[in-house]
Amino acid sequence: DWTMDSFIDFQIAKIREQVGDRKVLLGLSGGVDSSVVGVLLQKAIGDQLTCIFVDHGLLRKGEGDAVMEALSGKFGLNIIRVDAKERFFTKLHGVSDPEQKRKIIGNEFVYVFDDEASKLEGVDFLAQGTLYTDIIESGTKTAQTIKSHHNVGGLPEDMEFELIEPLSTLFKDEVRSLGTTLGMPDSIVWRQPFPGPGLGIRVLGEITDEKVEIVRESDAILREEIANHGLEREVWQYFTVLPGIRSVGVMGDGRTYDYTIGIRAVTSIDGMTGEFARIDWDILQKISTRIVNEVAHVNRVVYDITGKPPATIEWE
Ligand code: XMP
Repeated sequence: DWTMDSFIDFQIAKIREQVGDRKVLLGLSGGVDSSVVGVLLQKAIGDQLTCIFVDHGLLRKGEGDAVMEALSGKFGLNIIRVDAKERFFTKLHGVSDPEQKRKIIGNEFVYVFDDEASKLEGVDFLAQGTLYTDIIESGTKTAQTIKSHHNVGGLPEDMEFELIEPLSTLFKDEVRSLGTTLGMPDSIVWRQPFPGPGLGIRVLGEITDEKVEIVRESDAILREEIANHGLEREVWQYFTVLPGIRSVGVMGDGRTYDYTIGIRAVTSIDGMTGEFARIDWDILQKISTRIVNEVAHVNRVVYDITGKPPATIEWE
């Protein structure tokens, strides 16, 4: 891709000139934008870049390892992985209000990032995966602000960095094409949207280890079956939720009283509106059977057939 190749050359030259021999810090979330910034910076300034990846214990199954393997392994990024699960879960203990949960998770991200960043010495720059759309949308009230959003890598307040935002002229599809041109795998470049608060807003109400595990395992089965049937790009976003209600079922000769899992799968252009995905019933049946058989404490699976609006994509 000629355009992307020259964009890469231009950005690399620009970053080298701006940074010189100084150091840059980047908050990695595992998402497309920060990952592409990481790989681009790595090409430009190598080990003058340090990345911080905060694992809040609310990632999907295998996600933390996958990020490390792809970015640290293949591209040689210098990544500090922070296992902050206990910190997040302690703060979230006893909290069931969705907005409260979002705020706690968002704030804790900044505190953890801040703590790690302050251990590093002589960092002058903070890189961010800001897109063109982030710039034109900020200040405008969009439907998304109905739920408080946050993105990983917020600027620690008491630190002064110069910002590096190499994607600030690009749209999402251009970032994907840039990632592909940089040799990044589809698993990163075409990763479905995943909210900053992660599985924390897919366990409705209070978060517990057991509930997060049930969502994580059922979500892994859903993702596996979507992939097996080649539907990853057809369905815009797909995940499971744990509403927390229990209902009666039968297993063998016995009565069960266990959790219900909800499957949410939507088609959408940008997440602002959406429709439930018309996934083939045979595929849904297979997913349902697998979830009940393979995930302990689940005896019922329901499919969310609401559009956005009036529902939102997430359940919290
Ligand atoms: P809703 O649920 O508002 O979601 O229809 C629209 C899109 O935004 C994502 N989402 C979030 N992303 N932090 C994020 O970074 C959040 O708090 C958050 N809440 C929702 C959601 O996954 C969907 O793609």
